[in-house]
Amino acid sequence: MYIFNTKETLQDHLRQCLQKKESIGFVPTMGALHIGHISLVAKSFEENTYTVVSVFVNPTQFNNKEDLDNYPRTLESDIALLKVHFGDKIIVFAPSPQNLYDGEVVSLNFNFGKIENQMEGKFRPGHFDGVGTVITHLFNAVQPTKAYFGEKDYQQLQVVRKLVELQEFLVEIVGCDIYRESSGLAYSSRNQRLSVNVKEKASIIYKTLKECKEMFGTKSATDITSYVKGIFEKSEMFDLEYFEIADTIDLETVKKILPKKKYRAFIAVFGEEVRLIDNIALN
Ligand code: PAF
Repeated sequence: MYIFNTKETLQDHLRQCLQKKESIGFVPTMGALHIGHISLVAKSFEENTYTVVSVFVNPTQFNNKEDLDNYPRTLESDIALLKVHFGDKIIVFAPSPQNLYDGEVVSLNFNFGKIENQMEGKFRPGHFDGVGTVITHLFNAVQPTKAYFGEKDYQQLQVVRKLVELQEFLVEIVGCDIYRESSGLAYSSRNQRLSVNVKEKASIIYKTLKECKEMFGTKSATDITSYVKGIFEKSEMFDLEYFEIADTIDLETVKKILPKKKYRAFIAVFGEEVRLIDNIALN
């Protein structure tokens, strides 16, 4: 197993082993790895000669210092989990902020167009600039052939696609299905912070999204939104931050459902002060 803490040592290694026609798959993570991450790494393993997994809690994408401080940091068990699943073939990249950012840990400013102002962009100002910045540094360091992102952070996936266009990165972005616990709760590193009881009840999020999917086509977007708001007003455990039905490409909130367009429902909920997001394809 290879573990690198600087981009210089990672690049030396990749330069030495990479032969013509070989490919590098890349899975960027903030650690606290779970089976959802493992499914991304497995896909990369299947499709590439080498797979690099980065473990880096990116300070510039947190707009709340407490959230950054509370974010789980579990590098040793992350490495152990990767080893159990993939043996010695995996390449782990766990740089310090100073090394990855070349000294000054600051966000760049991007213009991602409409997508950056919706949902997560509205509630987490500066978040996508931080994601764009770290992905830029990571892509420059790893130079991947393909990079894998989960659809749980669907808006992030669209932002990364836009970033690749803006920065002209030669990388294929692969979006991967949401990995769910048997209760339906989407796997997230934040789930670790939920008590057993709240975690069990958090299945309400996916259950509600599935109901929305069933209603879509017969009920209007306004009716579905009111239905969801009603569910969470009644809930004592969960507070709804937003629920939106939006176009899958530009993520603009739907006004009128058009037959040829594709839509998804997006939700953000707080339970025990832990922020949980999820989404579902509606058509
Ligand atoms: O989805 C995440 O874990 C992070 O936003 C990412 C893509 C690793 C960038 O820090």
